[in-house]
Amino acid sequence: MSLLEAQGIVAGYGAAEQILKGAGLRVEPGEIVTIIGPNGAGKSTLLKVVAGLVPMAEGRLVLDGRDVSSADAIGRARAGLAFMPQERNVFGAMTVAENLDVSGFLEPKAAKARAEAIYARYPVLAAKRRALARTLSGGQRQILGLAMALMTEPKILLLDEPSAGLSPKAADELFAAIVDLNRSGLAVLMVEQHALEALAISTRGYLLVAGRNAAEGRGPDLAEDPEIRRLFLGGA
Ligand SMILES: Nc1ncnc2c1ncn2[C@@H]1O[C@H](COP(=O)(O)OP(=O)(O)OP(=O)(O)O)[C@@H](O)[C@H]1O
Ligand SMILES: [Mg+2]
Repeated sequence: MSLLEAQGIVAGYGAAEQILKGAGLRVEPGEIVTIIGPNGAGKSTLLKVVAGLVPMAEGRLVLDGRDVSSADAIGRARAGLAFMPQERNVFGAMTVAENLDVSGFLEPKAAKARAEAIYARYPVLAAKRRALARTLSGGQRQILGLAMALMTEPKILLLDEPSAGLSPKAADELFAAIVDLNRSGLAVLMVEQHALEALAISTRGYLLVAGRNAAEGRGPDLAEDPEIRRLFLGGA
């Protein structure tokens, strides 16, 4: 049984035409699945639909065997889904500790112990727990975003461009942190602009173009696909 299955998703932002025109995907337990595609393809929209932040006009979403199509974002969080947005994914005016605390909203009584487990896993956050999030480096901020998503102890983690804006070294470290979480049993669905690097660590990948699935395959196979390399490297 798939951990997450999205079928025939049609969604948009009202007025104009739909952005997603029947996109779909699945994530099996233990997988890292990456969505790639050109700017404006609807990748972020797809993650937001799955997270329950953008309503879908058509489609079906099954999470861990439960049809959550009509559940709201909190309902989906309770069903085991956590989402790290592409932008504004930490509260800059709050400390690291406060960011973790508010992210434990589903079970406030467990928040303290979960934050301690996160400090043990990410010493960089422990060292900065009283620092305002806006004073963190880009890499530290993305680790905080990741840690905030972990505060609900999800079964599946949705990450929208976790490596965006990071130096190559910081991006590598972030990918290593994602692989590490995945090895400890967490399924990951991410969108990445660093397509080839992301596919290299992914079980499977999807290419989304203009709101529709355009290709699908094993991560490393997609990373070697000449058409994909042309799209993302402009040649080679
Ligand atoms: N809140 C919104 N209101 C109206 N239109 C939106 C909104 N958010 C996104 N869009 C539009 O939906 C389309 C898809 O946007 P989306 O952010 O999903 O693309 P993306 O594939 O994530 O792109 P990128 O690679 O640039 O992050 C774009 O045309 C965008 O302008
Ligand atoms: Mg996006």
